[in-house]
Amino acid sequence: MAKNEIENLPGVGPAIAEKLRNAGFDTILSIAVASPMELADVADIGESTAAKIIQAARNVADVGKFETGNVLLEKRIKIGKLTSGSKSLDELLGGGFETQGITELFGEYGSGKTQIAHQLCVTVQLPKDKGGLEGHAIYIDTENTFRPERIVEMAEAFDIDPDETLKNIHVARAYNSSHQMLLVEKAMELSKEIPARLLVVDSLTAHFRAEYLGRGALANRQQKINRHMHDLLRWANLYNGVVCVTNQVSAKPDVLFGDPTRPIGGHIVGHTATFRIYLRKSKGDKRIARLIDSPHLPEGEAVFSVKREGIRD
Ligand code: GTP
Ligand code: MG
Repeated sequence: MAKNEIENLPGVGPAIAEKLRNAGFDTILSIAVASPMELADVADIGESTAAKIIQAARNVADVGKFETGNVLLEKRIKIGKLTSGSKSLDELLGGGFETQGITELFGEYGSGKTQIAHQLCVTVQLPKDKGGLEGHAIYIDTENTFRPERIVEMAEAFDIDPDETLKNIHVARAYNSSHQMLLVEKAMELSKEIPARLLVVDSLTAHFRAEYLGRGALANRQQKINRHMHDLLRWANLYNGVVCVTNQVSAKPDVLFGDPTRPIGGHIVGHTATFRIYLRKSKGDKRIARLIDSPHLPEGEAVFSVKREGIRD
C-alpha cells in the first residue's frame, strides 16, 4: 500500500477520503492515532465504521511500538545541541537548541523570533566543534518573512560561503494551515534525500489564528495544532533534528498567563513543546529570553542582542 494513500484503507471511498482530507486527516498515521468519535464526526460515518478504518490504519502505520530502556538511553545520548550564536541563550537552554525536541519561541512582534530562526538556519550548517550540526535547514514560512539577504549577512559573520549556506536552506511558503501541515509531510520526504537537521515553522500559529475564528472553532483549532505539533515531533525524532516554531503573543502578562484562550495555541503548544522560550524586548537591540516550564532545566533568563551579524551576547 502506498504510504500516504488513505483511499487504500478498506471502507474509505473517494467521498469519505475527501472529507477526511479536508479535516486534515490526510495520512494513514493521522488516521491511526485518531479517535473513532472525531473521525465519525468529520467524515459523516458511524463510529463503528470509523473504528474499523482506524484499525486498518493501525495495521499499516507503525504505531504503538514499545521500546526498551537501553534503546531509549542510546537515543538520548545522541541528542545534539545547536548554538543560537549567543552563549547566554545557549546556557539558558542547557547548551543550545536540542535535537529530538521542539523549541517554541513566543513573544510579541519584534521580539526576535524570526531573527533567531534565521540564525539557526546558518548555525546548523557549522561544524560540531563550532556548535553546529553539519546539516541542512528546512524553513516553512507562513508570513513571508524569510530573507535570504539576512542569511548572507549572518553567514559572512561566521566566515562561511553565503552562496553555499543559502543552498542548504530549503524554504517553502505555506499559504494556509492545511498547506502548512502538508509541508511537514513534504519535509519528511525531503529529509530522506538531504541531511536536514533543522525544521523551522515561522509562524506556527498565524494561519490557525486567522482561519479558526470565534469560540466555537477553538476546540477544532487546538486539535489541529496538536496534530501539527505531533507531526513535527515525529520529524525531530526520526531525523534527530531541531524543530523551532514561533508563536506571536501579546506582551501583556495578564493575557499571557491569565485567560488561556488568548495566546493562540497556548496550552496545546505548551504541552507538546519540549522547550518554551518567552522573548521580550528590552533597550535597543537587546532582548530578554525566559525559559518557561522546562522538564529538566531551571527557569531563568538570558539577555542577548540582535545585531547585523546575527544573534549575539
Ligand atoms: P513578529 O514576526 O512580528 O511577531 O516579530 P518577530 O518576533 O519575528 O521579530 P523579528 O525577529 O522579526 O525581530 C525584529 C527585530 O529584529 C527588529 O525590531 C530589529 O530590531 C531586528 N532586526 C530585524 N532585521 C534586522 C536586520 O537585518 N539587522 C539587524 N541588525 N536587526 C534586525
Ligand atoms: Mg516574525
